[in-house]
Amino acid sequence: MANRIQQNMVAFVLNGRPFSVAPDPDETLLETLRQRCGCADVKKGCDEGACGACTVAIDDVAVPSCLVLTVACAGSRIVTSAGLATDPLARRIGAALAEAGAVQCGFCTAGVLITAWSMFRRIPSPDRDTISRELTGNLCRCGGYDLMVEALAGLG
Ligand code: FES
Ligand code: FES
Repeated sequence: MANRIQQNMVAFVLNGRPFSVAPDPDETLLETLRQRCGCADVKKGCDEGACGACTVAIDDVAVPSCLVLTVACAGSRIVTSAGLATDPLARRIGAALAEAGAVQCGFCTAGVLITAWSMFRRIPSPDRDTISRELTGNLCRCGGYDLMVEALAGLG
């Protein structure tokens, strides 16, 4: 019995802290983060990979957590927007979005922040087309795309 429990455990690093959970086989990372790890900052929108509200970084790559099974995250380094609260790059991104007025209702903002943070780590000076392409998976119901692209282009 103890061995079976041990086999079902999945260990990862979440926002710099080691976590160990026992997810259901079909449990998504979104469910795990919200229900087992207390990550209220990871939003549940469409729950089918279409809106980007649930975006987190897994080993620095931005992905919709509703499309990832938790059992596939063993050994991964997962970062949510709350984990970037003191990160200098994320703070610059957040400030630029806010200054540009690109944060309206805020529902998409955590996912956009993660996507932008991941982008700037790979592409330090993205042009507007690149930024637009990178943000494709993050829907903003408030229609702030132009302001987001403008804000992020100013950081490159
Ligand atoms: S909730 Fe995951 S992409 Fe919409
Ligand atoms: S600011 Fe409202 S959904 Fe993007």
